[in-house]
Amino acid sequence: MKKVKKILIIGGSFQANVVYELCNHLNLTVEGFLDIKSNQRSLKFDLPVFNTFEQIDAIENYNYVSAIGHNFTRKCSLHKFRCRLSDDHFPRLIHPSAVISPSSKISPSATIMANSYLDQNSSLGFGTLVNAGAIISHDVVLSDFSSVGPGAKIAGNVSIGRNTHIGIGATIIEERKIEKNVIIGAGATVVKDVERNSLVYGTPAKFIRSVSPLDKLI
Ligand SMILES: CC(C)(COP(=O)(O)OP(=O)(O)OC[C@H]1O[C@@H](n2cnc3c(N)ncnc32)[C@H](O)[C@@H]1OP(=O)(O)O)[C@@H](O)C(=O)NCCC(=O)NCCS
Repeated sequence: MKKVKKILIIGGSFQANVVYELCNHLNLTVEGFLDIKSNQRSLKFDLPVFNTFEQIDAIENYNYVSAIGHNFTRKCSLHKFRCRLSDDHFPRLIHPSAVISPSSKISPSATIMANSYLDQNSSLGFGTLVNAGAIISHDVVLSDFSSVGPGAKIAGNVSIGRNTHIGIGATIIEERKIEKNVIIGAGATVVKDVERNSLVYGTPAKFIRSVSPLDKLI
């Protein structure tokens, strides 16, 4: 029989508590947290915390889920393991209340929170994060390490580039292309394509300024 691996949650902030509860919901056994930023720790659960990568005795003994909300940081944290382990070590976390079309494609390490909806032929890349109540319509492509805020709505045939964040409650109308490293502000209504490295918000959404994936706006 295949040995069930225990989960290590990468991160130690509020998001780590949310992901811990999701793992519990899915009956996954969480062994502990990997949190290298001890000064920002908000953990509410009494489990072991590894402060460095070196403290993990054998990395192949665990599966890894990331609980880091900032897209580029999530990418970097997962990369440290992904370059040494197969995709089997990065489970998808899908809340049981999410409604998922059987024709959608969900890559390893994607996280889908409660009451969200993923329609026909849509795809979620590696390390993507779909927050509670988000609606993703048909034929949407959400590229690696991008994220969708709570209650955001993405219409059909929209493509979203890597490391892009769709803000809480934002709406994107159909067939628009949102390039990589974009931030769509909370509540925005996106009616035009958005170029890479842009911050946009408002209704209709307007270009505000250029941003870098390293900027910590979210
Ligand atoms: C857009 C955002 C990233 C901040 O950008 P910012 O340029 O640093 O914004 P600031 O806070 O400095 O505000 C600058 C101005 O923009 C306005 N503003 C900020 N966000 C806005 C938004 N989403 N829509 C409309 N106006 C906005 C502010 O009111 C402020 O206006 P003022 O100059 O008239 O006072 C942030 O407001 C936002 O929308 N974040 C998304 C949050 C989210 O998705 N959370 C869920 C995480 S899972």
